[in-house]
Amino acid sequence: MHPPGLLKEMRTQPMDTPHWFLDEVAHAGREHLDPTYVPTYDDRAGTDPAEDLAVLRAQGLNETHTLVDLGSGTGTFALAAAPFCRRVVAVDVSPVMLERLREKVARRGVENIECVQAGFLTYAHQGAPADVVYSRHALHHLPDFWKALALTRIAAILKEGGIFFLRDLVFSCDSRDTPQAVGAWLAKAPTDPASGWTRAELATHLREEYSTFSWLLEPMIERAGFAIRATQHSDSQTHSAYTCIKTS
Ligand SMILES: C[S@@+](CC[C@H](N)C(=O)[O-])C[C@H]1O[C@@H](n2cnc3c(N)ncnc32)[C@H](O)[C@@H]1O
Repeated sequence: MHPPGLLKEMRTQPMDTPHWFLDEVAHAGREHLDPTYVPTYDDRAGTDPAEDLAVLRAQGLNETHTLVDLGSGTGTFALAAAPFCRRVVAVDVSPVMLERLREKVARRGVENIECVQAGFLTYAHQGAPADVVYSRHALHHLPDFWKALALTRIAAILKEGGIFFLRDLVFSCDSRDTPQAVGAWLAKAPTDPASGWTRAELATHLREEYSTFSWLLEPMIERAGFAIRATQHSDSQTHSAYTCIKTS
């Protein structure tokens, strides 16, 4: 349970947010707001940022660039990317996740990462347009209607020709084949919570979060003003990654 005052503070929306907007904190995932869970996040997630960083470096990411990481969490990717960028903006709706990142930034003496508490739907980019927007395992917190609006906002903060890299839990199977794909995915989940997300946690993800199908997400990405340059679908048909270029 969160102290009531803390949740109220977390829920504060910028003044100009329309009253009908989704409450992004309420959809952020309880665990990401939990000060007892967040310190365990990095070990459990075991994220290796090397592959995504290599993709972005191959696409031209360099020391003159501004990179925005949306749903940065504890900042594993932001910290890995910082030496190759001029400016990194790590954006997350959870103050608890961001506090963890701030501690790492201070401990390592990193000077080019800014931490901003905001969501996909509320982040107001300042300064030169972003060269790169990166987002990993975060967009699924929004239902599809809101994903479409978030993708449009991402296009708006990027420069023309800028790169958007998205990695998320996205199902690339046909809806008819979903029970088999999900069954195989859950069957492979570890039983020890220390080694990753358990079967029960993955089932909670399916029930309470908003992973979508690749064949719904891809037209949304294109309609927001991107050309998809490269697509990866995992063999399990449960995860996808997209390298996109802003075209309009
Ligand atoms: C599974 S974690 C992924 C964190 C990090 N990107 C990684 O790969 O380790 C999901 C993150 O998305 C954040 N999040 C959830 N909804 C969000 C939203 N609407 N806007 C921005 N961040 C959000 C959560 O607070 C959490 O830090």
